[in-house]
Amino acid sequence: MDEEDFRMAGSSTGTTAREPGEGNDPEAKPVLGVGMVGYAFMGAAHSQGWRTAGRVFDLPLTPRLAAVCGRDGRAVRAAADKLGWAAAETDWRALIARDDVDLVDICTPGDSHAEIAVAALEAGKHVLCEKPLANSVEEAEAMTVAAQLAAERGQLAMTGFNYRRVPAMALARRMVDEGRIGTLRHVRVSYLQDWLVDPSFPLTWRLQKPYAGSGALGDLGAHAVDLAQFLVGEPIAGVSALTETFVRERPLLDGASSGLSAAGGGEAGFGQVTVDDAALFTARFASGALASFEATRFATGRKNALKVELNGERGSLAFDLERLNELFFHDQTEPGDSAGFRRILVTEPGHPYLEAWWPPGHGLGYEHTFVHQARDLVHAIAEHTTPAPSFADGLQVQRVLAAVEESAAKNSVFTPVPSPVPA
Ligand SMILES: NC(=O)c1ccc[n+]([C@@H]2O[C@H](COP(=O)([O-])OP(=O)(O)OC[C@H]3O[C@@H](n4cnc5c(N)ncnc54)[C@H](O)[C@@H]3O)[C@@H](O)[C@H]2O)c1
Repeated sequence: MDEEDFRMAGSSTGTTAREPGEGNDPEAKPVLGVGMVGYAFMGAAHSQGWRTAGRVFDLPLTPRLAAVCGRDGRAVRAAADKLGWAAAETDWRALIARDDVDLVDICTPGDSHAEIAVAALEAGKHVLCEKPLANSVEEAEAMTVAAQLAAERGQLAMTGFNYRRVPAMALARRMVDEGRIGTLRHVRVSYLQDWLVDPSFPLTWRLQKPYAGSGALGDLGAHAVDLAQFLVGEPIAGVSALTETFVRERPLLDGASSGLSAAGGGEAGFGQVTVDDAALFTARFASGALASFEATRFATGRKNALKVELNGERGSLAFDLERLNELFFHDQTEPGDSAGFRRILVTEPGHPYLEAWWPPGHGLGYEHTFVHQARDLVHAIAEHTTPAPSFADGLQVQRVLAAVEESAAKNSVFTPVPSPVPA
């Protein structure tokens, strides 16, 4: 199907996941109409995921990029053309109301996640929502209740913690499950970036609590907490934390911002930074494993350094997102004179997600995590299984973030995290 056919197919109304897909494919599959809100950093990454998943993996439904939503009509139309969306909307309520949208993908800042997600679920749509799930525990709880009610009607809701879908992280999870590193003793996660070091970087939404909920904590720490809970297979029981805001005032934004880039020379004045620049915390798992976390946007020279290490009785696993095709494994049961960390190049067809990609050694990158996310959600929808991470998983991360803020506000006092309520 060429681009023009694709647009015409996508602009028809009344298509649902139960109707066959159009196009040249002789084995046309039912279509899953996707509507996306927000089209900047994550919008581009998710578009890539939706465009690519059905062309690489053999999916039970064909994702169709039905409509994208932004607030500026001209800009959202341009984004639709660039990213491959059939139609553009300027109000997310209109996007949700479209008959050709079966799934609403939320790629906006955290202040609108709850409102959009609950409305979409109540309107009978599946939902994928970027992380952190919400800006507060209360919002995340309301979203989880809406998701549980929607699940009874067959609609699914997933939180966009894409790093679970790095093949090396999925392999690490499998190896922990198989007992390859035995009983876990230590979990060490640091997520380091440096794009805020310059004090003249302007006051974008990421630096304002009403929009972002928190700073490095919710932005980077949320990923770290989700990965830790995913890899260990249990929730964090309590935390002790320190947070800091190093630059407390920044120039007001001068023009548009997207993702991690923006400009502001101070001509428009200055405003208060109302979130943390860095968050450090220790944590305890119920099984007895101890964890440490570091999330900062002030680690000069570190661009997107998400490092994970697990130490168990039988061995260790280590990962660095800046070398994401590699997982390091130490097998403690090997003879001491030859044991040591060895590199697993995670590009074999038997590794998670690799069955459909390139020959061994032809590595994947950041964008592929969004392809895998789309793949997994499409399978869950077609097969009526609960997607992971669910909204309940997103809520549990939110509870950890709230406990970190509470602990930091009370001189690092150990703060328990409420346990998840069984679904
Ligand atoms: N999974 C990841 O690795 C990852 C990386 C970056 C950001 N995120 C998350 O993705 C979300 C978006 O972040 P981003 O970096 O894409 O931000 P961004 O600033 O690049 O883009 C935000 C988009 O939302 C749109 N928007 C804002 N409010 C809107 C509204 N009310 N209606 C319609 N559109 C609206 C903006 O116009 C813009 O298109 C956040 O929750 C963030 O934490 C996740």
